[in-house]
Amino acid sequence: MNIPVTSVEGKKLATDFLATPRKHLINGKWVASQSGKTFPVYNPADGQVIAQAAEGDKADIDLAVAAARAAFERGPWPKMTPSQRAKLLWKLADAIDAHADELALLETLDNGKPLKLARMADIPGSAEKFRYNAGWATKLNGETMSANKPGDWHMYTLREPVGVVGLIVPWNFPLMMAANKMAPALAAGCTVILKPAEQTPLTALRLGELIQEVGFPEGVVNIVTGFGETAGAALSEHPGVDKISFTGSTEVGKLILKAATGNLKRVTLELGGKSPIIIFPDADLDRAIPAAANGIFFNSGQVCAASSRLYAHKDVFDKLVEGVAKHAEKLKVGPGTEPDTDFGPLVSQEQIERVTGYLKAGADAGARVVTGGKRLDREGYFVQPTVFADTSHDMSIVREEIFGPVLSASSFSDDDLEQISAKANDTTYGLSAYLWTQNLGIAHKMAKKLKAGTVCVNTFGLDLAVPFGGYKQSGWGRENAREGVETYTEIKSVIVGL
Ligand code: NAI
Ligand code: MG
Repeated sequence: MNIPVTSVEGKKLATDFLATPRKHLINGKWVASQSGKTFPVYNPADGQVIAQAAEGDKADIDLAVAAARAAFERGPWPKMTPSQRAKLLWKLADAIDAHADELALLETLDNGKPLKLARMADIPGSAEKFRYNAGWATKLNGETMSANKPGDWHMYTLREPVGVVGLIVPWNFPLMMAANKMAPALAAGCTVILKPAEQTPLTALRLGELIQEVGFPEGVVNIVTGFGETAGAALSEHPGVDKISFTGSTEVGKLILKAATGNLKRVTLELGGKSPIIIFPDADLDRAIPAAANGIFFNSGQVCAASSRLYAHKDVFDKLVEGVAKHAEKLKVGPGTEPDTDFGPLVSQEQIERVTGYLKAGADAGARVVTGGKRLDREGYFVQPTVFADTSHDMSIVREEIFGPVLSASSFSDDDLEQISAKANDTTYGLSAYLWTQNLGIAHKMAKKLKAGTVCVNTFGLDLAVPFGGYKQSGWGRENAREGVETYTEIKSVIVGL
């Protein structure tokens, strides 16, 4: 295997890591599956097996839940002060940074994304999730209330950790999604069982080793690898789990909700999207064009908040579509490990089949292929960055989440914001929406009209300080910000008659 990476040490660590069959982290120890089963992990750039992971099932989930419960109720974790928890989270963030080379390489080999993207976004972004949430650990408080009834009262709330939490994450940002859930859960004082995606278990397992190195007490973080239908389902229906936080498909989000009814565990869902990007005629096209392109081609389009539906005013439509297509054609497509690669393969055989299915459906439905439209004739799961124009709202490429580098573009001619927002809102999803205009009035009026959890004006991007989540079938609840950490807590009211 050819592994170009900046440091020799990082390369060696990653190679050693891949050579050893991986196990589950349960109660502070690395253990094989109860069944003894393993499954292969593939490199999407060439379809070759790069590692073996343990195939967890209900029996392994049972052990992990028991460990997390014991660590939550007893032992050092519940006795630690919020500031001691914060210190551990900071130490973990520093450990991630110290191992950035190696983690980035593992992420690239596992997921396919360009090494420079893993190195610049995924790995430092994961460290930042721990730092940001470390700050919340010391700021989660209850309130005191003034009584509404006569007499002498002392009334207050306690904000307590929700308990044992199952974290089920997808493969598009493997380490970052794990960090995104683990960091606030730990800051709040919960204990966790992480179930990484079966396509990309590696960096989560390396994170588990770092968690041990920096000194988290045993059982606070447990990691069970395996498939969704078995390990994931066992975790979501487990009566000993108090909450599930899930990121993935809307379809599985609904299954998790059903599984949660047994013990009415709390559920946070961050699901799919079909986010509109609306370009008004006064937009700064020099900025809007690369933003529209990055919004759909970044991470090979495997982004829940991808701006996959482009609506541009007819006066700027041609220029925009041509600009985005040019951008697509300039992207250097190749294995993520090559230093100049901008655009890597899709994650799996399943995803390449799904995306090429949509490429065919779009062409069959009569959408115009401006650029791309095909799978690349080479090993690995490579598809061309694609722009479809002249799309209409009944096409599946406009209605359904593709989760690949496929943009559907159409124009609008009227200036009626009601009409424009109605088109943007004509979707079962509501994760994000993007607007490009210089007109403040239009920007803020549209921000109110769009049914989406996040509206970005003249930018593409998120921030940890801002809540993130979906309207409609894009999810339940919010991640990031104060809301994101409070979702791992319960409120207890205390009423004292004085
Ligand atoms: P998925 O929703 O099946 O997988 C996400 C996670 O859920 C994985 O860890 C998986 O093992 C687990 N899972 C699967 N079935 C489960 C079950 N019955 N119970 C509990 N956990 C389960 O997503 P998949 O199949 O990998 O991708 C299909 C589509 O889902 C994508 O094309 C995309 O449209 C969407 N997706 C959305 C993501 C997002 O960020 N919102 C991330 C990944 C996929
Ligand atoms: Mg699935």
